[in-house]
Amino acid sequence: MPLKLTVIGTGYLGATHAAAMAELGFDVLGLDIDRGKIEMLQQGRVPMYEPGLEELLSRHVAGLPDSSGRLRFTSSWEEIGEFGDVHFVCVNTPQKHGEYACDMSYVDSAFSLLAPHLKRPALVVGKSTVPVGSASRLAGVLRELAPVGEGAELAWNPEFLREGFAVEDTLHPDRIVVGVSGERAETLLREVYAGPIAEGTPFVVTDYPTAELVKTAANAFLATKISFINAMAEVSEAAGGDVAKLAEAIGYDDRIGHKFLRAGIGFGGGCLPKDIRAFMARAGELGADQALTFLREVDSVNMRRRTHMVEMARDAVGGGFLGRRIAVLGATFKPDSDDVRDSPALNVAGQIQLQGGQVTVYDPKGMDNARRLFPTLGYAPTALDAVRGADVVLHLTEWRQFRELDPAALAEVTRQRSILDGRNALDPTLWRKAGWTYRAMGRPSA
Ligand code: UDX
Repeated sequence: MPLKLTVIGTGYLGATHAAAMAELGFDVLGLDIDRGKIEMLQQGRVPMYEPGLEELLSRHVAGLPDSSGRLRFTSSWEEIGEFGDVHFVCVNTPQKHGEYACDMSYVDSAFSLLAPHLKRPALVVGKSTVPVGSASRLAGVLRELAPVGEGAELAWNPEFLREGFAVEDTLHPDRIVVGVSGERAETLLREVYAGPIAEGTPFVVTDYPTAELVKTAANAFLATKISFINAMAEVSEAAGGDVAKLAEAIGYDDRIGHKFLRAGIGFGGGCLPKDIRAFMARAGELGADQALTFLREVDSVNMRRRTHMVEMARDAVGGGFLGRRIAVLGATFKPDSDDVRDSPALNVAGQIQLQGGQVTVYDPKGMDNARRLFPTLGYAPTALDAVRGADVVLHLTEWRQFRELDPAALAEVTRQRSILDGRNALDPTLWRKAGWTYRAMGRPSA
């Protein structure tokens, strides 16, 4: 009998994982505590913007025309327990309010609601990003609460997908990492990932703590790389150097590489910022806080970028924001996503508004989420409308659409031809040719 899979939590991670597993040929049952979300998914719609996900999902959701019918959704834990041989836990682990530590309440509640329904042998696979040590604690919860007892096994299988590339990253991962405490879990997971996903993909088998650490270490490394180049941007700016050239030149050393070396207003989103903070908090609990004090610096270099952009904008409009109109291009924390969680772009927009500036934001996909989070900012229906009458234009999320803007057309409607590129992603020559004063972070002005 082919394995039957369940996916608990249908956010970026869970919805993509469920659709990808159905694509591989498994029967999949997804669960979410949010009934609204379930209703949307049942119609083949996803509650966020993620390229390709809706198409993938619609190919498999039961009841939709021409679908494989392999993917269903429910809000019943009982049904989940009866259905699944392997249960993937994909719930969110946000930052605790006012603390560095991560909020484990969604994971904890998923385990305690699932366990009592595990009446036959099953494997529970944690995919959420959790503080190291969580897996062995949760294995205990399963043993204690599952009627099947030792028959409810746990594995930890971190997920490395990037928003905007969720489908691609899930179907073609760089590596599969599984933390297990026994051979049966490994065998089951090899069966799940057999086929196109695992072909040629490194499959790393390890213990629980290492699997948990791989994920946090990877995100800490990526965050460090971004803050490193942003620190170089600070020095370049002070010395009159060009951080973009510097990044290009050091990146040719393939031990360093070119990726994740784009200086700008820094990293945001639902993962990197909270993951490095949770990592520091956990290291503190383990008595290893000294090992991660550098992450405090990584975090503060990153937060400084936002303030620096505000300062650059203030200078560009003559030293004060009162009575000035500021156009902000970009609201999401990165392009190809509608996610505005801890978005550097909105943080900058919010700071400028607090200092008296009249801010108008445009984003290709993040407008609804931005409006919900920052209802008092101004919003425009197009980039051109946002730029109309502006004293300065801030480019804060590097959507392709913004790279394709016609600087000459924008020059017609703006008050001042002044643009600050907070992502080092626009072509300076193009903008300068159209009469704009183009400035970027960590690069000379002209
Ligand atoms: C990240 C990890 O990349 C992924 O492996 C993990 O599973 C979840 O966290 P994501 O949050 O989707 O993924 O975004 P990512 O592409 O890593 O970008 C994070 C932030 O860094 C964005 O705000 C982006 O604009 C910024 N960034 C990225 C830079 O400022 N400079 C760069 O060179 C690269």
